[in-house]
Amino acid sequence: MTVPIDASPLAGRRVLLIVGGGIAAVKAPDLIRRLRERGAAVRCVLTQAGHEFTTPLALSSLSEDRVFTDLFDLTDESEMGHIQLSRQADIVLVAPATANLMGRMAAGMAPDLAATLLLATDKPVMLAPAMNVRMWLHPATQRNLALLQGDGVMVVGPNEGNMACGEFGPGRMAEPLEIVAALEAHFGPRPLQGLRALVTSGPTHEPIDPVRYIANRSSGKQGHAIAAALARAGAKTVLVSGPTSQPDPAGVEVRRIETARQMLDACEAALPADIAVCAAAVADWRVATEAGEKLKKEKGGGPPGLAFAENPDILATLSGRAEARPGLVIGFAAETEKVIEHAVAKRQRKGCDWILANDVSPATGTFGGDNNSVTLISAGEPDTWPPLSKQQVAERLVQRIALHLGRT
Ligand code: C5P
Repeated sequence: MTVPIDASPLAGRRVLLIVGGGIAAVKAPDLIRRLRERGAAVRCVLTQAGHEFTTPLALSSLSEDRVFTDLFDLTDESEMGHIQLSRQADIVLVAPATANLMGRMAAGMAPDLAATLLLATDKPVMLAPAMNVRMWLHPATQRNLALLQGDGVMVVGPNEGNMACGEFGPGRMAEPLEIVAALEAHFGPRPLQGLRALVTSGPTHEPIDPVRYIANRSSGKQGHAIAAALARAGAKTVLVSGPTSQPDPAGVEVRRIETARQMLDACEAALPADIAVCAAAVADWRVATEAGEKLKKEKGGGPPGLAFAENPDILATLSGRAEARPGLVIGFAAETEKVIEHAVAKRQRKGCDWILANDVSPATGTFGGDNNSVTLISAGEPDTWPPLSKQQVAERLVQRIALHLGRT
């Protein structure tokens, strides 16, 4: 269904568009046109490097507003200081966001107008990164990206494809309509407003002795993406997370734990909740008695004999609660074979409402990777989704939840 343009959540919104210095700046005029078609007002800031790829005239013609370029323009300072410029918008959009701009933002540096108002703004910020594939994949850029996302900065793209420099890979700026869609999702209805959600994510660490533990390879990407999507949809979201390197999702209350038992305690403390999504890879077993001292390798003593005890099943416990059972309890079934058959049985066994079944056999690259192939198992027919990024799985799950709760 196409949304009529006049019903866009962007109608009446003020977008401050910072155009950075990359070849993708040539898409800025089209982006402005698309935003204005949907009723948004667009005011542009062009960086010095951005001038190499597009012109203030092109941007001002399409935005029908003046274009700001220089921090030390005294007329601007008296007429419209950079603080006001950044505050009069509803959102600051950086497209293209270059590696340089991202680095300056992550470091909190403000050598020019664009970086200054990014530091001065009190409004949400969205980046559409665009750069050479090696620059995008460089640990410095990825580190900056994680820092910025941790600060609540939203990111759309980049896409994978042929690049102007002749290389192939991630680094192409998202298309103007994808950026528009991300902005519409940000300003769109918040169907889960007023509801409370609980999400588990990441692995658990089960101690053997003070320095050793049993763990698994869960990255926490899927659980964190679900918590972020629930919060964007308006749910008051608590994320109970095992140790991961994921940044805390914006707008989510994060409670960090290590063991399965701590995870269960933190989940129960977060009740009541309307929605619970158990995405954590909880260790099924813990060492029955954690050694108080580091286990020693005794000469001729052989390996230590470890006795195990069963961990609580958080999904089953939440599902089976007589009191304060979350209205909709959702679990995951990571399987390597007979995915749907096993997931249907798991749904029964755990007593949850839905199971997201996914194939984690090594060939799929799901575990620790960025993509996921999911089948939603509910009381009805299994619903198999196409391969999606973990962010997209999160968005789609939230749409399904909203639909189920009659919130669309
Ligand atoms: O039993 P299995 O680990 O395959 O079940 C996976 C589902 O159960 C996931 O949703 C996981 O978060 C949840 N789980 C749990 N507590 C456990 C084991 C699994 O919440 N101890």
